[in-house]
Amino acid sequence: MGIIAGLERLEPELQSGLEQASSLSQVDDLYTAFLGRKGALAQLMGHLPELPAEERPAFGKAANAVKERLAELLEARRQFFLSESELAEFARFDPTLPGRSPRQGSLHPVTLVMDEICRVFTSLGFDTVSGPEVETDFYNFEALNLPKDHPARDMQDTLYVSDGVVMRTHTSPMQVRTMLERKKPPLAIIAPGKVYRRDSDLTHTPMFHQIEGLLVDQGISLSHLRGTLTMFLRELFGKSVNVRFRPSFFPFTEPSIEVDISCILCGGEGYRSKGEPCRVCKTTGWLEILGSGMVDPAVFKAVGYDEACAGFAFGLGVERVAMLKYGIDDLRMFFENDLRFLGQFT
Ligand code: PHE
Repeated sequence: MGIIAGLERLEPELQSGLEQASSLSQVDDLYTAFLGRKGALAQLMGHLPELPAEERPAFGKAANAVKERLAELLEARRQFFLSESELAEFARFDPTLPGRSPRQGSLHPVTLVMDEICRVFTSLGFDTVSGPEVETDFYNFEALNLPKDHPARDMQDTLYVSDGVVMRTHTSPMQVRTMLERKKPPLAIIAPGKVYRRDSDLTHTPMFHQIEGLLVDQGISLSHLRGTLTMFLRELFGKSVNVRFRPSFFPFTEPSIEVDISCILCGGEGYRSKGEPCRVCKTTGWLEILGSGMVDPAVFKAVGYDEACAGFAFGLGVERVAMLKYGIDDLRMFFENDLRFLGQFT
């Protein structure tokens, strides 16, 4: 059969096929058979080179007209089979719309820093523990060598829940809880959590986070404290950071030691490259980073530990570390829940 005759037969053939079709999928099958990539029309077009060159343009034109006609017939039959509800379904679904991707949350910078600190101490063998934010006077003060009327209680502006019940002003009550629970050394724990003080200004919020550390064993000395905290601070702020230990006072440690690191903005110089005073360390070259010391024998006594055992403890403010690490200069950013801020810490 000549290809021109073949072309002319396509329309009547399709028409009779469509008359017999009884479902949408049969119409779709006819589409494939006639207009598909390997369908009847495509096959006829494959014979085009057999025609004399002068006949080819006319044949091409005719083939296009047939193609359009077949497409019309198929579409008309398709519409017939599309039920009303199917049509409605298609109208609702717009495949040209861009996809909607789910919004993914991210961890809060305070959580990120807390996790990182916990990871360092976990790798050293410390256990992570947690305890209540509403504490009794005993755990928050008394057992930590802060008897009633002790002037050092004024160091911390306490939020009272009721007589003898406070919002914990530091994570140090976890020292007492752990030692009472574990009966005897050795032990090494860190306790991350929220603490509360009656403070609210540019650099203080009534709630903030601390991480407490405590290690008790035989023969623990100040050099263990120095070694551990130096290693920890270099892990957290970078190998090049210098660490300084200064005498201080806390009722529950003796001796008490304040720990500074060399300023991470100016590298301890106190001034920036253009002689501009460093705004982070206020030209001192040092940043106060944590409080620490050797556990006071009075604390061991309060929890029933042998006063001959020895240990060191420390406490650090998490927001302060997060501000230094991420270069955040307004504490309130942490608590305003602004997604533009929070989304930057993924
Ligand atoms: N609890 C002290 C504070 O909140 C910090 C600290 C903890 C100091 C452990 C020494 C030992 O300031």
